[in-house]
Amino acid sequence: MKEKIDALFAQAQEMTAETAAELEALKVKYLGRKGIVQELFQDFKNVSAEEKREMGQRLNELKDAIQVGLDALKERLESKTSQSDATNDLTLPVDFSDLGARHPLSIVRNQICTIFGNIGYTVAEGPEIEDDWHNFSALNFPPEHPARDMQDTFFIEKDPDIALRTHTSSVQIRTMERNKPPIRSIFPGRVYRNEAISARAHCLFHQVEGLYIDENVSFADLKQTLFYFAKEMFSSDTKIRLRPSYFPFTEPSAEMDISCNICGGKGCNICKGTGWVEILGCGMVDPNVLENCGIDSKKYTGFAFGMGIERITMLKYQVNDLRLFFENDLRFLKQFEKA
Ligand code: PHE
Repeated sequence: MKEKIDALFAQAQEMTAETAAELEALKVKYLGRKGIVQELFQDFKNVSAEEKREMGQRLNELKDAIQVGLDALKERLESKTSQSDATNDLTLPVDFSDLGARHPLSIVRNQICTIFGNIGYTVAEGPEIEDDWHNFSALNFPPEHPARDMQDTFFIEKDPDIALRTHTSSVQIRTMERNKPPIRSIFPGRVYRNEAISARAHCLFHQVEGLYIDENVSFADLKQTLFYFAKEMFSSDTKIRLRPSYFPFTEPSAEMDISCNICGGKGCNICKGTGWVEILGCGMVDPNVLENCGIDSKKYTGFAFGMGIERITMLKYQVNDLRLFFENDLRFLKQFEKA
């Protein structure tokens, strides 16, 4: 009898049913009034006294195991039928449980747009495939000038005049060509550079650049605007510092650091112990650039700035590998706020 029960345990594991009728047949076969289990209970009367206890227990376990197996089959069948009903019956309600979340780069881009929107900046966009004039020449990069190598460019083989834009500064030019001052705009978008892909660099990334042109715009205005941005983006106790730098289209130029938002400026591995992290480039728009766009540089001055959205997002959410933004692994993406 023991062998019989063991064999039935194994059979119970392998029960399958594709239809309700098959399921019913299994139920009758094993648990029916004249079914196998009932038969065993009949045999049980003949089991010797010392075996009764163990056999009785095994027999009840077998009955339970078959019942569990049948229940599972039933559930599977039901969910299968309700799925096919759902595809056939278009009036059934849709399951909304798997709504996505916004991509972290979109969240931060939207935040940047809102922060500058609150102080009157409009948003403008331009083409990702650019000509030499808008990406380089108008921005004061003379032909053959080594500054062009600051940004490794993807050119189109057949036409050296056309490239994938290396920065959204090209949209600054397009905006100045089309509009008269005062101009107060930001330019979010995708940019491309021929760089090896690593935890810190990618051949495709995102920038937001900003431009403010009017009479009497000074470096002090630039500094206050960026200070406001840093406090809004990170926290109200964020400090900033500007370090002299070089860009062909701004003079003077600077890079801006913020006090490390991870360690609060004490020094950690994110800021490499310095307490500061770089977040953007900026400067006063070079008069040549204004003139290239038909703006009178005697009357108007302005400032520009540009930042990488990936970098800001990495600092804000403490993401240590830029490639995560492009892999679209749901386990990563699901951690960010719901759309
Ligand atoms: N265009 C620069 C870059 O991509 C950033 C920048 C923008 C610097 C505006 C100064 C002013 O690196």
